[in-house]
This record gives sequence, C-alpha cells and structure tokens, in this order.
Amino acid sequence: MDYTGQVVAITGGARGIGRAMAEAFKAKGARVAIADLNGAEEAAAELGGYGAKVDVTREDDIADFVRQTEAKLGPISVFVSNAGILRTDEPSWDAAAASDADWLASFEVNVLGAVRSARQVWPGMRERGGGVFVIVASAAGLLAQIGATSYTATKHAAVAFAESLSVAHGDEGLQVVCVCPQAVRTDMIGGSEDGGIAGADGIIEPSDVADETLKAIEEKRFLALPHATVAEYETLRATQRDRWLGGMRKFRRMMVGARGRPV
Ligand SMILES: NC(=O)c1ccc[n+]([C@@H]2O[C@H](COP(=O)([O-])OP(=O)(O)OC[C@H]3O[C@@H](n4cnc5c(N)ncnc54)[C@H](O)[C@@H]3O)[C@@H](O)[C@H]2O)c1
Repeated sequence: MDYTGQVVAITGGARGIGRAMAEAFKAKGARVAIADLNGAEEAAAELGGYGAKVDVTREDDIADFVRQTEAKLGPISVFVSNAGILRTDEPSWDAAAASDADWLASFEVNVLGAVRSARQVWPGMRERGGGVFVIVASAAGLLAQIGATSYTATKHAAVAFAESLSVAHGDEGLQVVCVCPQAVRTDMIGGSEDGGIAGADGIIEPSDVADETLKAIEEKRFLALPHATVAEYETLRATQRDRWLGGMRKFRRMMVGARGRPV
C-alpha cells in the first residue's frame, strides 16, 4: 500500500510501538505527526514530520494536535491511538488491590485517550468521506494480563470502543483496526523479559506490530494479531470459559512458583 502524500497521526509515537508505526508509515511515503508526553518533537524531527507535546488525558491537547497537524501537513488519513500505560496489582497482587488512582489513570489513558481522539479526528474524516482509526489495545483486551487487572479491564474497554466505532461508522467510511499483541520489546515490559508480562509465547519487536497493523489496514481486517496464537486463545476463552480460566490459574501458579510474583 502506498501512503504517499497521506498524513498519519500517532499518539505515544515517540518510542516503542508508536515510534515503529511512525517509521513504517513513513517508509511507505506518509507524512507523520507524533503526539507524546515526551520526545515528540525530537522523534518528528528525525522522521521529517510534525511533533507536539500532548497528554491524551487532556482533550484540548488532542484537539490542538489534530488542528496543527492538519494545518501543517494536511488532512489526517490514518489516526493511531497508541498511547497506553500499564499498572500492576503489586505489592499484594490481589485483583482489587490497585489504587483508585491507578484505575482512573489507566482508564483516562487506555480508554478515554482513544475516545477523545476519535471525537476530535472523526468528524473531519467523515466530511472527507472516511479514514482509518487504529486503536492499539492489547491481547489483554481479548484475554487477560495476569497481575495487571486495571490494564486488563481498560484494554477490554478499548477493544469494545473499537468495535463500537466500527459498528457506528463503518458504513460512513471509517475503517477501524484494533491491534492486540502479546509481549513486545518496549519500555512497557522492561524488566520482565525473562517471563511474566513477556508471557509464554515470546517477545516480538515493535516493527513486527507495525508490519501486522499495515497488513490489517490493507486487508481491511478489524483485528491485527501479531501473535497468531491469540486467535486460538480467544476461541478457547469464548467456547470453554471454565477451561480457559483454569488454564490461566495454572499459569499464574507457575509464575508465582518461578518468580515469587504473578508477572
Ligand atoms: N509492549 C507490550 O508488550 C505491549 C503489548 C500489547 C499492547 N501494548 C500497547 O501498545 C501501546 C504502546 O506501548 P509500548 O509498548 O510502545 O510502551 P511504551 O511505554 O514504550 O510507549 C508508550 C508511549 O505512550 C506515551 N504515553 C503514555 N501516556 C501518555 C499520555 N497520557 N499522553 C500521551 N502519551 C502518553 C509514552 O510517553 C510512550 O511514549 C500501549 O497502548 C500498550 O498498552 C504494548
């Protein structure tokens, strides 16, 4: 697919998966705009695009980013809502242990970050006949991240929001892609490369996630699953819920046995 002349805007694009997405779209000819809490201008300068300091928990920041991007680069064809945070259930690892502050922060970034982005970018896309909205959720949004309950719940909400966007606006020209990887080598899983959040299915590179996302856009697929096994786990979860929960409990016991903690 050729993105020459098209504008792609990415939240959380200064590093990790967002940065890899920016590089992948740029390599296909796109002009990229990067929004991040830190390092957006620097990343954009390296990619010849536009960058701005944006906190996705602030709708004014997102509105300004969309406005400035369109003024400087042109109308946004693809918006990637990628900024995300992960809070674990430590130190007690009880499922309800995380503070309200951690739950609310996760909801603000992982869910409302995407909602507010869509609110700001979709009306313009609709006027132009459509566009692409990518939500980087997680395999945790289809399954679960053991030891990170607020992450699991907010990523499930992000998947539900992506589905709702597709249902509401698919007929109006909006293509929604929901990206659900397991472990990816970024700062987010820093320190757990030997297990835990890295999981049992291996760690992939941010560029693998970007490649699968571009492929999903091209093939008009809703789900981008860089780890193919996620589709099998989702089927198991949907059709044999008790067996799936038993398997997850077993995995948690193994992690606690091996590491003294569930992640
Ligand atoms: N790394 C993984 O294993 C993995 C797996 C599945 C899904 N994901 C998801 O991928 C996305 C990208 O994560 P990553 O792995 O590249 O992690 P990362 O921590 O390297 O990058 C996240 C980026 O989001 C930015 N960000 C965080 N809060 C923000 C805010 N309020 N406003 C603007 N920017 C903000 C950070 O500054 C950072 O640049 C996240 O949504 C994450 O949940 C990651």
